[in-house]
Amino acid sequence: MNRTLAIIKPDAVERNISGKIIDRIESAGFSIAAMKKILLSRPEAEGFYYVHQERPFFADLCAYMSRSAVIVLVLEKENAIPDWRRLMGATNPDSAESGTIRNEFGLSLEENSVHGSDSPESANYEIPYFFSRIELVQ
Ligand code: CMP
Repeated sequence: MNRTLAIIKPDAVERNISGKIIDRIESAGFSIAAMKKILLSRPEAEGFYYVHQERPFFADLCAYMSRSAVIVLVLEKENAIPDWRRLMGATNPDSAESGTIRNEFGLSLEENSVHGSDSPESANYEIPYFFSRIELVQ
């Protein structure tokens, strides 16, 4: 079993479609080890996305991620990291495969509805960024 961090982003929470996304997650066989709704401050968003700090979209991305609430989840499953990335689809909803969450719900490259860890190293940074060990349930 392994774990990945998922975020339901502001565009999806604002449109009240987080339940539909969670249904897709559970239907795909993930179990939810932890989940909470939070409002990120701008510095908290910047800390989460620090690997992108030199990218031209960094400021806009952090403004967007802190504009309203997000739902952060820890998902557990065999091959959790690649399987969640496959279910999300490509970063840009326009090129995301049909049947993926970003294809179905994403609005744009930035407002792409969901995030997922891209490697075990990023999951090891991202999960403890939001959750302590006692909050993770088997
Ligand atoms: P995410 O998987 O959360 O990782 C970084 C985010 O930056 C990405 O999804 C998009 O929401 C956003 N983003 C905005 N512009 C770009 C871009 N040109 N390339 C990649 N990600 C981008």
